[in-house]
Amino acid sequence: MDVFEAIFDRRSIRKFIDKPVEEEKIAKILDAARWAPSVGNLQEWQFIVVRDPGRKLQLSEAAVGQYWIAQASVIIVVLTKNDRVTRAYGRRGEEYFVKYDAAAAIQNMLLAAHALGLGACWVSVFDETAVERILKIPSEIDVHALIPIGYPAENPIPPHRIGIEYITFFEEYGKRWVKNVPKFLR
Ligand SMILES: Cc1cc2nc3c(=O)[nH]c(=O)nc-3n(C[C@H](O)[C@H](O)[C@H](O)COP(=O)(O)O)c2cc1C
Repeated sequence: MDVFEAIFDRRSIRKFIDKPVEEEKIAKILDAARWAPSVGNLQEWQFIVVRDPGRKLQLSEAAVGQYWIAQASVIIVVLTKNDRVTRAYGRRGEEYFVKYDAAAAIQNMLLAAHALGLGACWVSVFDETAVERILKIPSEIDVHALIPIGYPAENPIPPHRIGIEYITFFEEYGKRWVKNVPKFLR
């Protein structure tokens, strides 16, 4: 699949058929995650692959009752250890960079899942303390996202995107890009 096809056709998938995702596909998604860029190439990310139905149900409860995530064949939990980034980059490292690293890995995972014919969704609305307890995650580790992954049972209509002319300035803040916005980008 071409990279633009993957970017434009990927959708958040919240309904799954009852079919297990093969180990090789999960490995490929994790491989895509670890090839994301990271600050200083420190790669402070870690992942937990959850397949156990009881644990998935507990995670869906921790995700403020988003019970649909328990229907996914697998949930990959995205974590970061922050100590080396914080030592190397101080406050901005801790406040921002580890989050950027996690987000880059997550986006790679979503695109990889889509390219493999799977559906996935970025889920970050959850009670972090509950997730830590369910998965025995030490308190110094940050939990960024739960990524439910499975074979899709829906094909959602693409949700609205704001036109690039409204979010892009030219040369300086506030100076709008008004001329020659290509039609296909609207
Ligand atoms: C930081 C972040 C947190 C999100 N958390 C949730 C979530 O908890 N539950 C959910 O259903 N979707 C969640 N989403 C998915 C968004 O709702 C989705 O990406 C957005 O509506 C655009 O739809 P699309 O992904 O199909 O383009 C989250 C996305 C991001 C980037």
